[in-house]
Amino acid sequence: MGLFQQIESGEKSICVIGLGYVGLPIALEFAKKFNVVGFDINASRVALMQQGIDPSKEMDASEFANRKIVFTSDPETIKSCSVYIVAVPTPINEANEPDLKPLIGSSTAVGRAISKGDYVIYESTTYPGCTEEDCVPVIEEISGLKMYTDFKVGYSPERINPGDKERPLTKILKIVSGCDEESLNEIAKLYESIIEPGVYRAASIKVAEAAKIIENTQRDVNISLMNELSMIFDKVGINTYDVIEAAGTKWNFHKYTPGLVGGHCIGVDPYYLLHKAESMGLHPRVIAAGRFTNDSMAAHIAQAAIKKLNKRGKVVKDCHILIMGATFKENVADIRNSKIVDIVNELKSYSVNVDVVDPHADSEELKHEYGFELNPVIQGPYDGIILAVSHNEYLTLAPQWYGEHCKPDGFLIDLKGIYRDRKALTGLEYSSL
Ligand SMILES: NC(=O)c1ccc[n+]([C@@H]2O[C@H](COP(=O)([O-])OP(=O)(O)OC[C@H]3O[C@@H](n4cnc5c(N)ncnc54)[C@H](O)[C@@H]3O)[C@@H](O)[C@H]2O)c1
Repeated sequence: MGLFQQIESGEKSICVIGLGYVGLPIALEFAKKFNVVGFDINASRVALMQQGIDPSKEMDASEFANRKIVFTSDPETIKSCSVYIVAVPTPINEANEPDLKPLIGSSTAVGRAISKGDYVIYESTTYPGCTEEDCVPVIEEISGLKMYTDFKVGYSPERINPGDKERPLTKILKIVSGCDEESLNEIAKLYESIIEPGVYRAASIKVAEAAKIIENTQRDVNISLMNELSMIFDKVGINTYDVIEAAGTKWNFHKYTPGLVGGHCIGVDPYYLLHKAESMGLHPRVIAAGRFTNDSMAAHIAQAAIKKLNKRGKVVKDCHILIMGATFKENVADIRNSKIVDIVNELKSYSVNVDVVDPHADSEELKHEYGFELNPVIQGPYDGIILAVSHNEYLTLAPQWYGEHCKPDGFLIDLKGIYRDRKALTGLEYSSL
């Protein structure tokens, strides 16, 4: 009997390691049909999940009901499982280099738990070669077992986009790969059982790893081009969104928009690819330049605000700026690697007083991670407003609202160009990226 049949019959069970934005949805989806153990090293997150609460605030309580799942932070419990799906974070360190600690830690846990005939499938985003060259050796050393003969390995990257209710996990075609033909087929069957559009069988584990990383690298580089263009068009005195709209009438123009690139994926993953390239003596200039441009945007925006204050002859330490939005993107609570923080810090470095509001972010989490809190109420009148994140709550505000919360000589920096067609109604000096 193949692995998938054994899972299907209930003879064998699946362990999902790392129950965050990626791991929890996959664990709960498999648990509709199969026996699942959800393992996470963070005991307080596990305690919440045991009560049917998603600590990442993405899944409703109803999505925990009637699932064949046990949540645990006890590594002993996972020894009875036969398929280990690893969905731990892949962050970067201060020097923008891959921090493989979670991947090595979870591979160590797998090494202690794994038995002959078991499977390990990595879902974490990483550079091509990481699974076979960095993770598998850890499992082999700790378990004394060998890939191919004793256990099988696969890689299946995750493409979900938290906050996007239109495209849940089950509706996104999934890339799968395996260390050999047999594992590729068994892993494909496993995911085909939950993914409606089915799976794409990649030629190898490295191809699957590379495919995921270029999806995000391509996006990063394209956004960086738009950011660079926005700086040029700002000097020319034209609106970048107007230019993009006009150019977008051509059939083969790709409509990317300028903006901050934060979060744990697009702003991070290209560094994994850069690391791999550099380890082989290559120095990819386009990818590195894209990262540099996107990482510079927050300072560029803050300095644009400072210039507006100076132009008005204001003493910056007496000025108050309101920043609307603190999360790394719209309509989510996720503040990881939010570039709004860089705008706040840059403005504060000039001694400007900064108020930050956000209907989704958690003030305590911001305080803990970045040292500033949200303002419970919008005060004002402000010297300027930076509309930074296009949360739905902000899209419905009348343009006049901004004028009403600013001094008469105030300004609005609308990073997403939301009000560019109604800018006169704001009653403020208006600019977007
Ligand atoms: N969030 C996304 O939108 C998204 C989309 C596609 C791919 N990815 C990738 O998926 C991976 C996971 O991302 P995420 O957003 O789910 O991360 P996350 O931070 O939301 O969750 C990770 C979980 O793993 C746990 N963890 C950390 N180290 C562990 C260990 N050694 N053993 C067990 N558990 C451990 C943490 O406690 C946390 O609960 C990353 O590689 C990420 O790049 C994320």
